[in-house]
Amino acid sequence: MSNSTAPLAVVVLAAGQGTRMKSSLPKVLHPIGGVPLVGHVLHHARRLAPQSVLVVVRHERDRVAEAVAATDPDAVIVDQDDVPGTGRAVEIALEALPDFDGDVLVLSGDVPLLEASTLARLIEAHRARTAAATILSAVLDDATGYGRIIRDADGTVVKIVEQKDASPDEVRVTEINAGVYVFRASSLRTQIARVGTTNAQGEKYLTDVVGLLRDAAEPVAAEAAPDAAAALGVNDRVQLAEAARLLNARTVRRWQLEGASILDPATTWIDVDATIAPDVTILPNSYILGATTIATGAVIGPDSTLRDCEVGEDATVTRTDATLAVIGARATVGPFSYLRAGTRLGDGGKIGTFVETKNSTIGEGSKVPHLSYIGDTTIGARVNLGAGAITANYDDLTKHRTEIGDEVHTGSHNVFVAPVRIGDGAKTGAGAVVRKDVPAGALALSVAPQRNVEGWVEKNRPGTGAAEAVARSRAAQKADDGSQEEDG
Ligand code: UD1
Ligand code: CA
Repeated sequence: MSNSTAPLAVVVLAAGQGTRMKSSLPKVLHPIGGVPLVGHVLHHARRLAPQSVLVVVRHERDRVAEAVAATDPDAVIVDQDDVPGTGRAVEIALEALPDFDGDVLVLSGDVPLLEASTLARLIEAHRARTAAATILSAVLDDATGYGRIIRDADGTVVKIVEQKDASPDEVRVTEINAGVYVFRASSLRTQIARVGTTNAQGEKYLTDVVGLLRDAAEPVAAEAAPDAAAALGVNDRVQLAEAARLLNARTVRRWQLEGASILDPATTWIDVDATIAPDVTILPNSYILGATTIATGAVIGPDSTLRDCEVGEDATVTRTDATLAVIGARATVGPFSYLRAGTRLGDGGKIGTFVETKNSTIGEGSKVPHLSYIGDTTIGARVNLGAGAITANYDDLTKHRTEIGDEVHTGSHNVFVAPVRIGDGAKTGAGAVVRKDVPAGALALSVAPQRNVEGWVEKNRPGTGAAEAVARSRAAQKADDGSQEEDG
């Protein structure tokens, strides 16, 4: 008997292959918002504080089980056998709950957007009516592919018919089965054993339980989802993109209401595990992915991707691609910067245009402004690297570190051949190839002194444009000298 104190068990169906995805990745592992479909379902389920959560697997069972454990280590994995169909999946799950006598919430691993509040309301309605089964339904403009809910003249639910088994009249019904149900465990146990496989797909349909309950004069109800769009089931890539879009719209709206300025929700993609402080501004075409956190006042974008990054207060990140990077407060990054894993930019620092960094710490107030590669490097505070600084960190065998002290200023177009150290306050000349350590306070010069060979162009390139330009230059110089003599 269902009542408000009945224990709750959740069964998540995740054994199917997802043929229509045409993918080597099992359907329920396709991600939206940075989390696999089944991860969303498990997250919503756990918020209901059920007595147990069971996940039925079969296709690529190890991969699915691993993803389930990563999201919800307490979920119990149940293996479906070779009998196909959602009904068989539930039957196997019930065998793993031999003494359970309460309410069973069945969720589909490919219906990711139904939130805990909607599920809680479904359970409440089920218990209030003491129904044997309560189906979550939705009225859709386009019901293609879903099971239809068939009611009799007075509105009582009679059965669910799969699209492939439906008569032309039944196909026209727009009220669909969302693939989410609450069952009284004892009633479900009795009827699931009676489900056959004589249907268009030769499968044991869970949906057949509804008709069987009705035949047994057990009360069945259907509750409409408050947001029909959230009932979306993902069977193919078109529906996957639609689910991702709907989830993202929900996520963007949540951060906007928390105080973030997000100029263009349609081109801003925020994963569900990201965190965005009030007064952050996100400009169009930006991707805030993984566990990225952005502190107040920061401005991100346009055209930026941050994966698992930490961005400090009032930092700006423009047209940048960054992974596992920490960007300090008031730092500036971009335009056109590429921050790879292990980049740590100090407060007030700068990584500028066409600069790639990796596994490097750039200290407080230090700048790598233009056209550089900085890898496996530690840079102190208030350093300025000239344009075109390159750390040669790889000698064909292993990676080596470059260490640069505080207040170092380097000339343009330097190569730092690691392992090498530049002492505090040191300077380097333009074009230096720094192979040896530079002591604190030294000026390092590695380029041979410049020698000018006078008259080289007139002698070796007579008659060229260059030679003519030299001739004009000499004439102008002579006239200038002459007039100066007159003046004097
Ligand atoms: C199912 C419902 C349909 C409903 C729709 C809602 C049935 C027979 N049909 O159809 O009425 O409108 O969901 O989205 O239930 N699964 C297993 N074991 C299996 C087969 C499937 O665990 O043997 C899992 C799948 O991994 C998936 C879920 O059950 O997560 C639904 O299976 P799917 O094949 O997508 O069913 P639909 O055709 O969408
Ligand atoms: Ca489905």
